[in-house]
Amino acid sequence: MVSNMSFKEKQIKKVQEIEHVLQKYLPKQEGYQKLIMEAMEYNVMAGGKRLRPMLMKETYRLFGGEGDLVEPFMAAIEMIHTYSLVHDDLPAMDNDDYRRGRKTTHVVYGEAMGILVGDALLNFAFETATKAFSMYPEKSVQIGKAMQVLSQKAGIYGMIGGQVVDVASAGNAISKEILDFIYELKTSALIEGAMMVGAILAGATEQEVQVVEKIAKSVGIAFQIQDDILDVTSTAEVLGKPILSDEKNEKTTYVTLVGLEKAKQYVESISMEAIALLQGFKAEDSFLEELLKSLIHREK
Ligand code: IPE
Ligand code: IPE
Ligand code: MG
Ligand code: MG
Ligand code: MG
Repeated sequence: MVSNMSFKEKQIKKVQEIEHVLQKYLPKQEGYQKLIMEAMEYNVMAGGKRLRPMLMKETYRLFGGEGDLVEPFMAAIEMIHTYSLVHDDLPAMDNDDYRRGRKTTHVVYGEAMGILVGDALLNFAFETATKAFSMYPEKSVQIGKAMQVLSQKAGIYGMIGGQVVDVASAGNAISKEILDFIYELKTSALIEGAMMVGAILAGATEQEVQVVEKIAKSVGIAFQIQDDILDVTSTAEVLGKPILSDEKNEKTTYVTLVGLEKAKQYVESISMEAIALLQGFKAEDSFLEELLKSLIHREK
């Protein structure tokens, strides 16, 4: 039955499954600190494409992974990603008022809660990922390795490192080399983390994990270039977040550096590099490849 579904139908079904997992792992709204649980859910359940948990699950499947071992990590990566968005939107950073079609956390709950929700999601992400240890104690080595990758890709050698250079460079002209560094870290790192964790938990070899990292790096760079393109070509209604945020913050992007047309070509060519590498692995079905192809011309 599933194989008769179109890519779009399969994607919708997979997003629903991911949201079910997220709902399951979000904390109960209780205690004097209930406000933070409410605000966590406000962000995490606002929607979003769920790309990172989807890539994690699909990479897990690619290497023969089955069952729910990957689920706490799927929830964790989406929590980390969502925290990065909450902080990215803060007045001290990109200062944006909309995200995933809703007013941003700091607008609704105030700036202090915006900071705390980010902190809460980051910490709870790791609290959630560690649940895998009690679920599958016999997989402790793989789970430990997955946690190491997840923490590294989210940290100063990953997403945070990229955000640091992004913020510190705002208002300055920067070279393509620095811009690539920013994209690799602020965006590719979490996508690398997502796909690598999927591969590791499924028992992929170190060499396979290295190839997965390379695929994810290209996916991430193409994804960020497309994000920068949409920032100038789309609408707030479609994106669920403000447009022209980069111009407002005087950010150098691929669009400002090489122009819109060249930027589009890069999205295509970098994505095709990722797809060519992916084709080196034998997949049970074509969903992951179709997903990467669909990102080339994504409209949100
Ligand atoms: C936005 O990520 C931040 C970037 C890395 C460009 P997404 O475009 O994946 O945001 P959601 O999860 O769909 O809201
Ligand atoms: C941010 O890039 C990527 C993150 C690590 C949050 P952007 O600042 O361009 O992301 P958007 O456009 O606000 O989603
Ligand atoms: Mg930003
Ligand atoms: Mg931003
Ligand atoms: Mg952007």
